[in-house]
Amino acid sequence: MLGRSVRPAMTEALMTRTNLDDGILTALVYRFYARARADAVLGPIFEARIADWAPHLDRMVAFWSSVALMTGRYHGAPMPAHVGLPIEWEHFERWLDLFRETAVETCPAEGAAHVIACAERIARSLNMAVENARPRTVPSLHDPRRP
Ligand code: HEM
Repeated sequence: MLGRSVRPAMTEALMTRTNLDDGILTALVYRFYARARADAVLGPIFEARIADWAPHLDRMVAFWSSVALMTGRYHGAPMPAHVGLPIEWEHFERWLDLFRETAVETCPAEGAAHVIACAERIARSLNMAVENARPRTVPSLHDPRRP
């Protein structure tokens, strides 16, 4: 089977369609987090939680490889990592602005469009998870003092 790739067909097809590979995704992740850390609003939120950046960046490269190319490299749970962070939708908008900017500069056009669409979808579900996990601000209809 000379010349036949060992990559699963789905990853192969995504790589062909998007012109992305793990090298480009690594550059994307490193550049994006350099910007996020330097950002006046997002920077302090990251610095308060992440002491050792090397493992975080490795995990994020595996995450993007799994999301964009379906390589199955990431085995984690993004939802609980964000629950409890002091973030609102405006923070996700800022995150997405920086991500879009970095993706357009770092990836081929088809690849940038692909990772941006994935990021927008995931940002929306993370925001919902963060909001859902907050204590209810609407009072319960049931008053426990009454039978
Ligand atoms: C307001 C925007 C965001 C902030 C401030 C933020 C912040 C953080 C922080 C502080 C962590 C580390 C948590 C810990 O280890 O204690 C983390 C982890 C992570 N974030 Fe975000 N994040 C944001 C948006 C996003 C978005 C939009 C994505 C995906 C597109 C994402 C994907 C991840 C992933 C995959 C992890 C690793 C989870 C794990 O396996 O431990 N984040 N984030």
